[in-house]
Amino acid sequence: MTRPRDIVSPVAGYDWPDLVKEYGSPLLILDCEVLRNQYRRLQKALPKVDLYFAIKALPNETVIDVLHKEGCHFDIATQGEVKLLEKNGVMATKTIHTHPIKRDIDIRSTLRYGCTTFVVDNEFELEKFVRYKERVGLLLRLSFPNPDAMVNLSKKFGLSVEEAPEFISKAEQLGIHVKGISFHVGSQSPHSQSHVDAIVKSLAIIEESRKTRDIPMSILDIGGGFPINYDGSSIDIEKFCAPINEILETIPKNIRVIAEPGRYIAAPAMTCITSVIGKAVRDGTPWYYLDDGVYNSFSGQIFDHAIYPKFTLKQGATMASVLAGPTCDSIDVIAESIELPDLGIGDLIVAPMMGAYTSATATEFNSLPKTNIIAVNVEEMASTTITRIQ
Ligand SMILES: Cc1ncc(COP(=O)(O)O)c(C=O)c1O
Repeated sequence: MTRPRDIVSPVAGYDWPDLVKEYGSPLLILDCEVLRNQYRRLQKALPKVDLYFAIKALPNETVIDVLHKEGCHFDIATQGEVKLLEKNGVMATKTIHTHPIKRDIDIRSTLRYGCTTFVVDNEFELEKFVRYKERVGLLLRLSFPNPDAMVNLSKKFGLSVEEAPEFISKAEQLGIHVKGISFHVGSQSPHSQSHVDAIVKSLAIIEESRKTRDIPMSILDIGGGFPINYDGSSIDIEKFCAPINEILETIPKNIRVIAEPGRYIAAPAMTCITSVIGKAVRDGTPWYYLDDGVYNSFSGQIFDHAIYPKFTLKQGATMASVLAGPTCDSIDVIAESIELPDLGIGDLIVAPMMGAYTSATATEFNSLPKTNIIAVNVEEMASTTITRIQ
C-alpha cells in the first residue's frame, strides 16, 4: 500500500504532490501515451480485427481525439456519444451503433449523423427498422452467458443461439438486411476461450444462414471483454488473443471481423489522486475520509465491480484502516481493512488503473463536483505538457 517504485507521476518534473498543488485535489490524470500504447498493443495482438473503441468506458474529447488520430473506429450507444464524435469531427463511416434497445429518435439522429450499422437482439426492435430498411444493415446480438466475467452482458441483452435462425427469417420477411452477428462475452473476461466459443457458434449461424437461406453475412463483431490486471501489472494480451486469432484464421475471407474494446484501452490510462480531508478512530480502527469516493471517480467499485490499486506516498508501520469517500452516505467506503501507515490531513492516496468506467459513471451526489481531469502527453513525442480537460 505504500508506493511501489514504479508508481511515478506521469508528468516529468512533477511528483504527485506538485500536481495537486497546481491542479487541486481530487484529480484524474489522463496519460495519452498510455492510451496510445494500449490501443496499439491490442491492435497488434488482433491484427485482422478492426477496433471500435467503446466510448462508454471513457467518454472524453481528448480520448476520442487521440484514438481517432491512431485510426481507431468507435462504438456508439447513445445520442450523447454521437454528439461527442461529431464534435471531434469523426466520420460516421468509422462508427457502429451497438445499443440493442433504441427509441425511434435515437435511430433517426444516428442515421442523420451517417451511421447505418445498428445492433438488434429481438423482434420488437427489428420492427423499428422497417421504415429505415433501405438505409440500414443490422447486426444480430447473441447472448453467451459467461460466469467468469466481472460484468455479465448476456442477461440484459442478446438472443439465444437457438432463436437466431427464426429471427433471421423474420428479418428477411420484413425485407431488413441482417449483415452480421455480434456478441459481448462479458466485461473483464479472464479466459479467451469464451471469445473462441462464441466465435465458433456465431460462425455456425453465419454459415447456416448462407447455406439454407441464401442470406450472406459480412460482419462478425466479437465485442469487448479484453481484460486488464487491476493489480497494476501488465497483462499478456498477445497470449490472450492468440487462440482468438487462431480461430479467426479459419473464417471466410469475405467476413470482416470487428471488436468493441473499452476497458483494455482506457483503464491503464488514468490515475486518480485524492487527499485525506478527515480522520477518525472508530472501534480502534483508523478511518480516513478522502475528497473522492464511490459517488465520484470510484463509482466503478459499485457499477463495474472493480477494485483499484491504491497507494499512499507515506512510509511507516501500517495498520488495518478504512478509506471512505466525502459524501454523507455510509455506502461511500472505498476500502476496508486496508494496510496504511498513520496518515494526516492532506496526505495523498494514488489510485492507478482508473480510466475505464470511473469518471464515466461519476455522479454529483451531495452537490459535490465531478473530479477534474488533466491530460498529459496529448501529442506524441511532445515534451510533457499538461492540459485541463474537464
Ligand atoms: C455493447 C458493448 N460493447 C463494448 C463494451 C466494452 O466492453 P469492455 O469494456 O469489456 O471492452 C461494452 C461494455 O459495457 C458494451 O456494452
